[in-house]
Amino acid sequence: MQWFDVDKAGLAKLLARRGKEFIIHELVQNAWDEDTTRVDVSLARVHGSRMARLTVEDDNPNGFADLSHAFTLFAESEKKADAGKRGRFNLREKLVLALCDEAEISSTRGTIQFDCAGRRHRRIKRAQGSVFSGTLRMTQEEIDHCEKAIHQLIPPSNITTHFNGVKIGARKPLATAVATLPTEQADSEGFLRRTSRSTTIELHEPEDGETAMLYEMGIPVIPTGDRWHVNVMQKVPLTVDRDNVPPTYLSLVRSIVIENMQRKLTVDDATSTWVRDAVQRHGDKLGGSAIQRLVELRFGEKRVAYDPSDPEANKLAVSRGYTVVHGGNLSRPEWEAVKRTNAILPAGQVTPSPKPFSPDGEPLKVLPEERWTPEIKAVVAYIRRLGPMLVGADVAVRISDDPGWPYLAAYGEGDLTLNFRRLGYKWFRAESLSEINRLLIHELGHHFSGDHLSAEYHDGLCRLGARLAELALAEPSLFRIPDVIREQAIGQGGRCEAVPSSTHERRSATVG
Ligand SMILES: Nc1ncnc2c1ncn2[C@@H]1O[C@H](COP(=O)(O)OP(=O)(O)O)[C@@H](O)[C@H]1O
Ligand SMILES: [Mg+2]
Repeated sequence: MQWFDVDKAGLAKLLARRGKEFIIHELVQNAWDEDTTRVDVSLARVHGSRMARLTVEDDNPNGFADLSHAFTLFAESEKKADAGKRGRFNLREKLVLALCDEAEISSTRGTIQFDCAGRRHRRIKRAQGSVFSGTLRMTQEEIDHCEKAIHQLIPPSNITTHFNGVKIGARKPLATAVATLPTEQADSEGFLRRTSRSTTIELHEPEDGETAMLYEMGIPVIPTGDRWHVNVMQKVPLTVDRDNVPPTYLSLVRSIVIENMQRKLTVDDATSTWVRDAVQRHGDKLGGSAIQRLVELRFGEKRVAYDPSDPEANKLAVSRGYTVVHGGNLSRPEWEAVKRTNAILPAGQVTPSPKPFSPDGEPLKVLPEERWTPEIKAVVAYIRRLGPMLVGADVAVRISDDPGWPYLAAYGEGDLTLNFRRLGYKWFRAESLSEINRLLIHELGHHFSGDHLSAEYHDGLCRLGARLAELALAEPSLFRIPDVIREQAIGQGGRCEAVPSSTHERRSATVG
């Protein structure tokens, strides 16, 4: 005793919410799943009526293995266990029947007729193959949609498929890839399970006016709007309606496309939803070169990540033509993929601001005060006197004599370091006071900001320049140091021998 009866008219009404294109895909799908070399589809209006006649014929020598499957919903489909075949539900062609006023399925084991009187089994047997024929109510628009649906098909290379006598053109894949993807396969007891399996994926260029689609072995499943049609050559995890897949499946497929089509991706692709969706969900599966390619397309070859630990580095990057990628430009998973593959380095690593001292660096070699020459003493005295007038705070000066330290000078927190090794003896002789003042303005500017490219630093420099001019006018004697230096130097025979010292301290400072 059966538990269920099916209300055919009710089922037909439910199907009305979808277009009728599916009837083509279902019947062709069944024919392609068999040992077939040729399939003929025809669809035409029954002259002078609102009905259309649909036939789908194949040349599979065996025909229906079990003719009762023509009318038994959810009978155990043999194809469930075979990931390389499309059918599994044993439902869909019954939905086509539900739309028909009358129909006939004729095969090698007999013929079933369906009409208003019900279902009849006839003994008429075909020598080979099966043919479905039915009449159903269709508007011209629906017929047109069905014709369009047939041209969406990607026929397998070993089966020629005709529509109203015309062969559907073959499509040559642009590329193929092999990947492991989730699929559906029945276990030994016939229960349909999700599993993973290696498969081929074909990529096709959409033809003019076509929206890219995801295909299951040549049958369209869902329009994706991606760059290419993707034809998965095994069962795709499908809803019973066969018109959707889990979002994470689609993004996984997309990530495989990205991985395999890196060189063909364009700037538009890199910012498109399909690519971003793939990186979003499966960025961890994309290799370094794919991620590199995507960020190169989005941000160019010269790119750095905004680096909060080195504000000046970000500005240096901009001034050198880099695109600075900010946190909000990429989603969290995108950043994870970028960081994992070092596809965008922080500005502090690419265009670092000068860092005179580092906590793990060698101690700076300082020239002890007792070894200062008269010229050094005079310049230091000049700075010590002028410094507080310029920045309103004491300025301590030390002289370094370190061949390994590449900077002229550094300033930080009231401490000015002048590098005797780099500035040289001549500089200290102060033949040009403006050279000394130039360095002094630059270094004391760091009293206001460590960042050379900040408004605060710029403003500080302006203030120092203005203040120097004021002081020069009010107290010219402050600036007569060079004469004194020269006199002192001449009086003392003035050679300087720099002796490295071994006691130093670490501090933060900015260099000029
Ligand atoms: N043209 C055909 N030739 C042979 N068998 C067919 C044909 N059309 C339908 N069938 C049989 O009908 C059933 C269709 O079920 P299937 O395609 O697995 O379901 P669905 O498409 O709903 O997932 C299968 O058992 C299949 O063998
Ligand atoms: Mg089927």
